[in-house]
Amino acid sequence: MTTERTFSIMKPDATRRNLTGAVVKMLEEAGLRVVASKRIHMSRAQAEGFYAVHKERPFFGELVSFMISGPVVVQVLEGENAMAKNREVMGATNPANAEPGTIRKELAESIEANTVHGSDSLENAATEIAFFFQPEEIVG
Ligand code: CMP
Repeated sequence: MTTERTFSIMKPDATRRNLTGAVVKMLEEAGLRVVASKRIHMSRAQAEGFYAVHKERPFFGELVSFMISGPVVVQVLEGENAMAKNREVMGATNPANAEPGTIRKELAESIEANTVHGSDSLENAATEIAFFFQPEEIVG
């Protein structure tokens, strides 16, 4: 077993509804440890850069507008199989398809306002962590 790090965002629907503690509780109960965390309000350039992989998708404009509509909390999560574990506790992208007990099933409002983002590979996790954090900001 290997300890991994993955990247998480609590999205503007989570901060707006004061659900950041509820989300962290579910992450911690799943065995993930928050080793870096900061509340930020992304600029449009940051959101466009972060989601550049989706720039040809029809929902890109709305996705960027949503992600800059309020503060978010960016986090680094650590644990055994952290990337897959975080994906499991998040649930499916569309909350309508998410399993009961997952963050998105219990808390998300819609496919856009789906409360959390999580890296989908270890390679993307490393890129996404580096997008928002300096190495010295991560304290395991
Ligand atoms: P996230 O994991 O942050 O990655 C891209 C986001 O695009 C995704 O979560 C969704 O919140 C958002 N999104 C909005 N509309 C769609 C859609 N139709 N299909 C997939 N993702 C969408």
